[in-house]
Amino acid sequence: MKTNLVIETLLDHRSIRKFTDEEPSDEAVETVVRAGQQAPFASQYYSLLLSRNRKRNPWKAPLLFTVCVDSHKFELIMAERNWKLVANDLSLLFFGIQDASLMAENMVVAGRSLGLGSCFLGGAPYRADKIAEEYRLPKRVFPLVQLAMGYPAEDPPPRPRYPMKFTLFEDKYPKLDKKTVKNAMRAMDEGYLAQDYYRKAQAKIRLEGKRRETFTYDDYSWTEHICRKWGQWYPSPKELIEQLEKQGFRITKQTKR
Ligand SMILES: Cc1cc2nc3c(=O)[nH]c(=O)nc-3n(C[C@H](O)[C@H](O)[C@H](O)COP(=O)(O)O)c2cc1C
Repeated sequence: MKTNLVIETLLDHRSIRKFTDEEPSDEAVETVVRAGQQAPFASQYYSLLLSRNRKRNPWKAPLLFTVCVDSHKFELIMAERNWKLVANDLSLLFFGIQDASLMAENMVVAGRSLGLGSCFLGGAPYRADKIAEEYRLPKRVFPLVQLAMGYPAEDPPPRPRYPMKFTLFEDKYPKLDKKTVKNAMRAMDEGYLAQDYYRKAQAKIRLEGKRRETFTYDDYSWTEHICRKWGQWYPSPKELIEQLEKQGFRITKQTKR
């Protein structure tokens, strides 16, 4: 494989959840955000909120960014040009989520290049109303994901990823046989077990319903964890649609403007 400083930085990525007391300078914050802005975009359909309230921020991080999908700002531009938005909100959200995610990951990498560690927090859409109140968000600005950032006070190893064979499919999507699936699962599970990741984080997800617990931290790993997440959580889109509609996005009804 080829290597250089950019590739090394990307391959050395790990989420950081413990931070030192050092405050990142305004210049560091500005650099990270500028690098984020320069990501490719469909419509720059995002805004970024920042909290330096480390007492309240998750993991007492010195910086907490909230990445929002922002239709409001764009509609102001359209109004200046005497246009109205007619595109449906689901399509806009798809593009907005991509714009916002690309920006956010640029920030992660830029931060890392300046010695800053970070970790995403995915719960924001489910607390969108609370976040909207806190930051006085106008309607049609939706909190997508949060990014805690600061100087690392831990140095975990990079986490495993699927094998290339389970990721890159050239020309044709293959029939994924049991062996390929099992190999991919093994790579992930053995990788996390070797780091004792879930025991250290005490992060086993409790089983709901009739399933009986048979795992200990000796064999509980990523594939079981991810199955428990997506096999138990958020079975209905109702809560998310409610949050989106509270922020003025129309998902179930036709957009009429
Ligand atoms: C959209 C998104 C949401 C995430 N939410 C959380 C979260 O709520 N809590 C957390 O500890 N980590 C969260 N993470 C971090 C992932 O757990 C982490 O990226 C993944 O386990 C891979 O580990 P690595 O980043 O160290 O390579 C999130 C990551 C993404 C991309």
